[in-house]
Amino acid sequence: MSESYTVQQRVNELRDTINKHNYQYYALDDPSIPDAEYDRLIRELQQLEKQYPELVSEDSPTQRVGAKPLAGFSQVSHEVPMLSLDNVFNAKDLRGFEQRIRDRLGRSDPITFTCEPKLDGAAVSLLYRFGRLERGATRGDGVVGEDITHNVRTIPSIPLVLIGDNFPDVLEIRGEIYMPRVGFEAFNEKARVKGEKLFVNPRNAAAGSLRQLDARITASRPLEMCCYSVGLVQGGDLPNSHSDILMQLQRWGLRINSEMRTVVGGDECLDYHDGLLTKREALPYDIDGIVYKVDDLELQQRLGSTAKGPRWAIAHKFPAEEEMTKLLGVDFQVGRTGAITPVARLEPVFVGGVTVSNATLHNRDEIDRLNVMVNDTVIIRRAGDVIPQVAKVVMERRPANTEAIVFPQQCPVCDSELIRVEGEVVTRCSGTLICGAQQKEAIKHFSSRKALDIDGLGDKLVEQLVDEKLISSVVDLYSLTVEQLITLDRMGSKSAENLVAALNASKETTLPKFLFGLGIREVGVATAASLAKYFGTLAALQKASVEDLLSVTDVGPVVAQHVHDFFNNTSNFDMLNILHDKGIRWPDIEVKHADDLPLAGMVYVITGTIESLGRIEAKEALEALGAKVAGSVSKKTSCVIAGLNAGSKLTKAQTLGVDVIDEAEFIKLLAKY
Ligand code: IVH
Repeated sequence: MSESYTVQQRVNELRDTINKHNYQYYALDDPSIPDAEYDRLIRELQQLEKQYPELVSEDSPTQRVGAKPLAGFSQVSHEVPMLSLDNVFNAKDLRGFEQRIRDRLGRSDPITFTCEPKLDGAAVSLLYRFGRLERGATRGDGVVGEDITHNVRTIPSIPLVLIGDNFPDVLEIRGEIYMPRVGFEAFNEKARVKGEKLFVNPRNAAAGSLRQLDARITASRPLEMCCYSVGLVQGGDLPNSHSDILMQLQRWGLRINSEMRTVVGGDECLDYHDGLLTKREALPYDIDGIVYKVDDLELQQRLGSTAKGPRWAIAHKFPAEEEMTKLLGVDFQVGRTGAITPVARLEPVFVGGVTVSNATLHNRDEIDRLNVMVNDTVIIRRAGDVIPQVAKVVMERRPANTEAIVFPQQCPVCDSELIRVEGEVVTRCSGTLICGAQQKEAIKHFSSRKALDIDGLGDKLVEQLVDEKLISSVVDLYSLTVEQLITLDRMGSKSAENLVAALNASKETTLPKFLFGLGIREVGVATAASLAKYFGTLAALQKASVEDLLSVTDVGPVVAQHVHDFFNNTSNFDMLNILHDKGIRWPDIEVKHADDLPLAGMVYVITGTIESLGRIEAKEALEALGAKVAGSVSKKTSCVIAGLNAGSKLTKAQTLGVDVIDEAEFIKLLAKY
């Protein structure tokens, strides 16, 4: 056996193994080896190919990026046209779509549809001949696109060779190339640092990245591919439903969308729509709607297509998240902690499903970054329930009559000086207790549902009470009388009595709600709950040092400092005393310190798969019982929990004579407490 024969064997073996891992990672989203191990395989293959250049093959996983940039793009004709889709925007029109299908097919029973997210990227065609990627092309006008083979080859989730067998001789795959959000943010951040041009959104980033003559540029962009249909198929058969075809593509190593579902009838399509809409923000990529496709291929064929698109599919579009409008002016709002927020007043525009006439400009730096001026045309973004933002100025539309946005020097409400602490982005009003805006916001916060939950004390009423000088802080609330209240506009005696009763009822509260209600900077509901649980009483919290505060879960140096400052401020001290005198009470909380917990002082190591819990939950369960959870086994380890496929850590524990328990014993241990 010659040496090059064995090397060839090793090279083949490495390529097969790498392709299988790619399949696990990209098509199944279930990596089978750690990244470092994968990198070792790639390096070994690269090394061998360098040493034996005659063994380099075009479809080796090391050969994704070509050597030379192209001089230009050549054109590609799509033998099967790449159609577009008709849209619907509401449930009624979707039902109309289903009805048209039924009428055409002469059927009264519900139709089975496949539902898929409509990814917001660039449509591409991938042509595989005998399982090898031969050509990648853009959609273009649907009939003629551009050859982007050199670029699609660089995308790791696109296999250069299909795995498995029985694929048709010619198989054209269609799908979307997109840039996941995290990659997009990171890419723009890097570009920002280097002073380079930013992409407006992930879709432009994906399309722009594919339009490169130099594949090295495309290779450096975090792109992914998701397949959603087939085009040309010759010399072989595919399953006879759309969903089965996609499942088959996945087995050949292509990536399909994990949110794909098959449903029966329009109502189930709408359920899928509602479910995905709530999930939209949590998805790692942008989607602009859903595509419903008749699942049965025979029915698809009977329905056929129009010039625009197939009759068997429709896009149910989500409301657009970005729209253009005009900036009419800027107001400066004062928040609970005195933070000044510039708010853009806009010509009303329908975006993200609602009409928006205000959007935040965040702070002074943001105004500079956007280089925005009054009368500019701006792009407003409203994603999910997030407050609308000004995303960008459309410079091409800048009119002659723009006016600079002048950030005030004084508080627009109390006229106190505005200050900006070095290193902080926020500008604040220094008026604290005398600032009407801060008084109002602090009282609104204190009475809100997650705090003291004062029934009937809405925002408008708080504003009225402060404006009428009946109250200026939360302690004043508890001196309000029915007689005072009925002097207010639109306040009858019944409402006044109800409010006084609600104020009295609010005195029975809980420590977490009270702490949250104080409106300490950076202390939200979760932090307030952690502080209450850790200290148990207000007195203990008041005495806590910054160091003590740092021992609380989720409390970092910034929060610790704010909490400490709050309780060491004399006005706050007085306020707390008065609130106590007014009768605000809560049950104390029994404090369980780590030392008293059953597994205090123990060090656990988890290895292998814990099937019933998952690693993170298992770790949290142990920590809740007072144990420490370490990453590696040493003599200090008290016990190793060995799940399925436990590896070297188990061996090490056995060598060191450390206690080992399996998953069943671990579950019993948790059940004991
Ligand atoms: S099916 C004949 N499925 O939406 C069927 N398209 O307006 C044609 N798109 O340019 C496409 N996600 O790039 C289909 N799951 C999906 C899709 C999807 C995104 C894009 C596609 C096309 C456009 C259609």
